Amino acid sequence: MGIRKNQSMLTASEKSRFVNAVLQMKTNGVYDRYVRQHRDLFNAGIHTSALFLPWHREFLRRLELDLQAIDPLVTLPYWDWTVDRILTASLWGDDFMGGNGVPAGSAVQTGAFAFRNGRWTLTTRDDPTEPIELARALGSGGNLPTANTVRNILARVPFSTFTSGLETLIHNIVHVWIGGSAATASSPNDPAFFLLHCNVDRLWAIWQGLHPTESPFQGDVRFNLNSPMPPWENESSPPTPARLLDHVALGYSYDTDAAPPATIMDLTVGAPPRQDSISVSGEIDWYRFTAPAAATYTIETQGPTDVLMSLFGPNNQTDLVTEDDDSGADTNARIVSNLSAGTYFVRVRHYQTAGTGSYGISVSGAAQPQPTLPEIAVNGSAIQGSIAAANESDVYTFTAAQTATYTIATAGNTDTFVTLYGPNSQTAFITQDDDSGPGLNSQVVRALTPGVYFVRVRHYSPTGTGAYSITVQRA
Ligand code: CU
Ligand code: CU
Repeated sequence: MGIRKNQSMLTASEKSRFVNAVLQMKTNGVYDRYVRQHRDLFNAGIHTSALFLPWHREFLRRLELDLQAIDPLVTLPYWDWTVDRILTASLWGDDFMGGNGVPAGSAVQTGAFAFRNGRWTLTTRDDPTEPIELARALGSGGNLPTANTVRNILARVPFSTFTSGLETLIHNIVHVWIGGSAATASSPNDPAFFLLHCNVDRLWAIWQGLHPTESPFQGDVRFNLNSPMPPWENESSPPTPARLLDHVALGYSYDTDAAPPATIMDLTVGAPPRQDSISVSGEIDWYRFTAPAAATYTIETQGPTDVLMSLFGPNNQTDLVTEDDDSGADTNARIVSNLSAGTYFVRVRHYQTAGTGSYGISVSGAAQPQPTLPEIAVNGSAIQGSIAAANESDVYTFTAAQTATYTIATAGNTDTFVTLYGPNSQTAFITQDDDSGPGLNSQVVRALTPGVYFVRVRHYSPTGTGAYSITVQRA
């Protein structure tokens, strides 16, 4: 399995093997075939369409396999432009991509891909009147995307909004930042194209890891999961988006790929911080704790490492309650949330995709569980409630004095989601409901035996807020 590495981590020998394999591909004509394919399809569905990520993944993988046919030790490096942002970065050194155009926008003068060094002539161009020298205008066209921009785009769901943001707000900007040949339809003429797109491809893989419950691809009006992709559609088994969703299955990985899912570590409410670490780039740590009763809980990290924390639950690892980066001391994460009783899951990763470091993590609850939960009188008047902050939930109690059918219903304009627990337990799940009531309201109709029951109300959306009222009626 070839591991694609950060270009800044390559040894001198890895750089020269990569450059030499590219030069050989140029000599035997294979490289220019890639330039032509990209140019000819530039406005034919591979950009600003659902195919953007799968098509470029296939394109890069084919080129990488062709390079490996020349030198089996070569893999595509990626350029993390959130880190290597300056013109003197080793990326643009004489031993690798070569430097800027002289003057900016004109021919590159240094490195193996400078026309003047005799091995790199642009035979395929958007227009035959364009120069045959590789040109660059590094940094003339604005600023490279920042880590914050990348993080914001990685947070986007679903896939359709992620891919459009990645393409137009990140990828396009990097093309323009390089400028010159890289800003044309024949942009693969600049070998930096492949380092740029390798990082785009890596970001798709990272996005999949961050959003395991999201579909890794969505089609659009022109292409779906099983559309054969040009220019390979006449092959006996043409590539389709469906066959490109799992990069590891294609035979390569990234040095930042997450380690296999770690075991979930238990935290105890009120116990001293548990010490742990992000020991390899991209590592994700999972924790679990049980909230014995509805109360305000604080989950926080300690130490010098800038981690990002996400809280899921209750009783599942996929319903996001909330996320936090820096609300704690220094750059630590801190979540304070009203939680109903149940088991919660905490995911911790480094703020930077390549970062590592140690940290502590703890959970504390309010000194006492909330002494009295608001009680709903059966067949009494409605209680007015509101989800005041995103991700909060309200917990109510009511007493079933006799065996009968009870109806728990919300009213109002807020899209509530209701969960019923009991009898005489805040954690014994009975049922839940989203939209059985009128409009966006929830309604549970259930035969209940005598006892005390608990109703948890949250907003259907993790970011939603709003007012509602709640009643319990006995038939
Ligand atoms: Cu492209
Ligand atoms: Cu591109």
